[in-house]
Amino acid sequence: MRYDVLTIFPDFFESPLNQTILKRAIARGLISVNVHDIRDYTLDKHRNVDDSPYGGGSGMVMAAQPIVAAAEDIRAKRGASESLKIILATPQGRPFEQKIARELAGFKNIMIICGRYEGIDERVIDILNPDEISIGDYVLSGGELPALVIIDAVSRYIPDVLGSETSVEMDTFSHGLLKYPQYTRPEEFMGLKAPSALLSGNHKEVERWRRRESLKRTLEKRPDLLEKIELSEEDKIIIKELKK
Ligand SMILES: C[S@@+](CC[C@H](N)C(=O)[O-])C[C@H]1O[C@@H](n2cnc3c(N)ncnc32)[C@H](O)[C@@H]1O
Repeated sequence: MRYDVLTIFPDFFESPLNQTILKRAIARGLISVNVHDIRDYTLDKHRNVDDSPYGGGSGMVMAAQPIVAAAEDIRAKRGASESLKIILATPQGRPFEQKIARELAGFKNIMIICGRYEGIDERVIDILNPDEISIGDYVLSGGELPALVIIDAVSRYIPDVLGSETSVEMDTFSHGLLKYPQYTRPEEFMGLKAPSALLSGNHKEVERWRRRESLKRTLEKRPDLLEKIELSEEDKIIIKELKK
């Protein structure tokens, strides 16, 4: 997977891409993250990328020209044959979720445009027709953190990025439920014992316990998720019991 990120703050990405899973994935050539400074594409001799909004109002708006020039240049270099997804980080986009991360992992190239200030000139959207993605209903100062969130979540689906391929499928949200509680040594800590089912060594019992706890957690913390998934007859019986 190749990511191209368009930003006016390229340094923002240095440390996060240089840690643990993403660092290893880059070193092993499983992903590459190419950060482009939008200022390199401006025709303005002062390298300005923003201007005041037409119609007045506070703040500045990122001009269309350097963003479109950067995106077109990168797109041309990738070639028409390669699958490329253009994403615009925006609080007005579709809410980012696990299933979108999985869907995006199917592309060979992902370009992410990071806005700043009051946002970007609307004509960038008209011309590039990006997939507008929001990482939540709150407003951040820029699209750099959302870009990193997207890169991290998507890369977990790239084969071999995680130690074992099954672990991403076992994560919270992957099957529409929250993940079951987890424990490690010691068996007893400050008077609290790890559940006996997990210590039983009986694989079936462990699986049953985990499914029940996943359902219980989801029911307690995110009942809305249960509306969106197909439950087995056994799940329905467990939920009925839990509700009592
Ligand atoms: C201060 S915000 C602009 C918000 C804009 N004035 C509005 O009300 O929609 C600057 C940039 O941060 C990014 N951003 C802010 N919040 C975001 C979110 N929740 N998800 C994705 N991107 C976000 C976008 O790239 C946006 O252009």
